[in-house]
Amino acid sequence: MAKSVSTFTCTACGATHKKWAGRCDACGAWNTITEEAPLSQGPGRSLGAAKGRAVPLSGLATEEPPPPRSHSGLAELDRVLGGGLVPGSAVLVGGDPGIGKSTLLLQGAAAFARAGLSAVYISGEEASAQVRMRAGRLGLTDSPVRLGAETNLRNILTTLDREKPDLAIIDSVQTLWADHVEAAPGSVAQVRAAAHELVTFAKRSGVAIVIVGHVTKDGQIAGPRVVEHMVDTVLYFEGERGHQFRILRSVKNRFGPADEIGVFEMTGAGLAEVANPSALFLSERGQPVPGSAVFAGIEGTRPVLTEVQALVAPSTLASPRRTVVGLDSGRVSTIIAVLEARCGIPFAGLDVFLNVAGGMRVNEPAADLAIAGALLSAREDSALPPEAVLFGEISLSGALRPVAQAENRLKEAQKLGFSQAILPEGQKVEGLGGMGVTRIADLTGFVGEVFGA
Ligand code: TYD
Ligand code: MG
Repeated sequence: MAKSVSTFTCTACGATHKKWAGRCDACGAWNTITEEAPLSQGPGRSLGAAKGRAVPLSGLATEEPPPPRSHSGLAELDRVLGGGLVPGSAVLVGGDPGIGKSTLLLQGAAAFARAGLSAVYISGEEASAQVRMRAGRLGLTDSPVRLGAETNLRNILTTLDREKPDLAIIDSVQTLWADHVEAAPGSVAQVRAAAHELVTFAKRSGVAIVIVGHVTKDGQIAGPRVVEHMVDTVLYFEGERGHQFRILRSVKNRFGPADEIGVFEMTGAGLAEVANPSALFLSERGQPVPGSAVFAGIEGTRPVLTEVQALVAPSTLASPRRTVVGLDSGRVSTIIAVLEARCGIPFAGLDVFLNVAGGMRVNEPAADLAIAGALLSAREDSALPPEAVLFGEISLSGALRPVAQAENRLKEAQKLGFSQAILPEGQKVEGLGGMGVTRIADLTGFVGEVFGA
């Protein structure tokens, strides 16, 4: 028999290590590695004749049509799910504590219930009375959603097995306790075991299960990343503290496109859908100011315009500050290096602050040109043309590379009143529909064209 040895798992990213270390090599977090007892083997099973046998792919097609997706009627939620909820699927919703996950899912459950699904909301964090109070605040007291307050996994599965709802929401996975695992609730072993049982149950019963997971900062509690690989769909609920906007983003979806976003606004009476996020993210723009560039982006299947803001100021520090919010800081450093090396525009001795307005996160390489535009505009203290949007990827040589879905980006820009676009020279665009276009071959050309240098 194989010797059973403990494994060491990082609670932040889920990486496993052979031995304990103070810092996780995989994600760089400190003090997040915990020791896990080996999983018990369980009784060996002999599968029935029909089980575990492979069947030809072509033989499957005629057996059963794919089950229909259910729509909640909340367009932002349905789109992020890939066009509705798939029966028997397992969905993970992660996010910082207090960002609004419970609010979103209670509203979601009520919306699905209104659409005719039977929905159960099981909270391991709040008593049913507290959930009912929240429902009152959200105006959902008449909703047919059934509530439960339970943390024991066995009890939860028994209840779900008996009730056979169409949708079950489990809030949160860190509070669950599987009695066959000897570890504290919230540990990697418990969280994994609970998620595994729930996912298996979903597949077997056809009940769609939504699992809530708190993103954790300390190493004692396992975060949602340790179960990402088990579920069909991974959604993250994001937002900046101090902003009322919340973004639900799909980072993995077996049943739809990843990187799809749904935009919500947190109000006194719960989350309200934001149907036109571009207008919202640009709404704070006033007079043209140096350091502002409008990026025509694509999030999933939808074009979204955002404003990239930069501030460049003389630094008193030996190594100047680079503060980046809502953008990839590695990407920003690369663009600054390209501006220095290829265009001879130094940023040494200057503090750089970059930010995406409205608490939005932008991950597309197509945002490179807008980032460079905002940086240059701030540094030169000269505003970009206010009626122009920008997009394009910057290579290390300083050349601009074309990006996908240019037509959709331009259409959205035009809809919002922009009449000009600055884009890569090699970009193919069909039907500009009255947009003025400035084509740029490389960053040096961009500096000359826009800042006349
Ligand atoms: P919650 O859904 O409990 O967060 P999570 O489950 O992710 O921990 O949301 C908590 C925050 O949302 C809290 O700070 C109060 C705010 N909130 C509103 O602003 N309006 C509302 O109608 C509700 C229910 C919550
Ligand atoms: Mg909660």
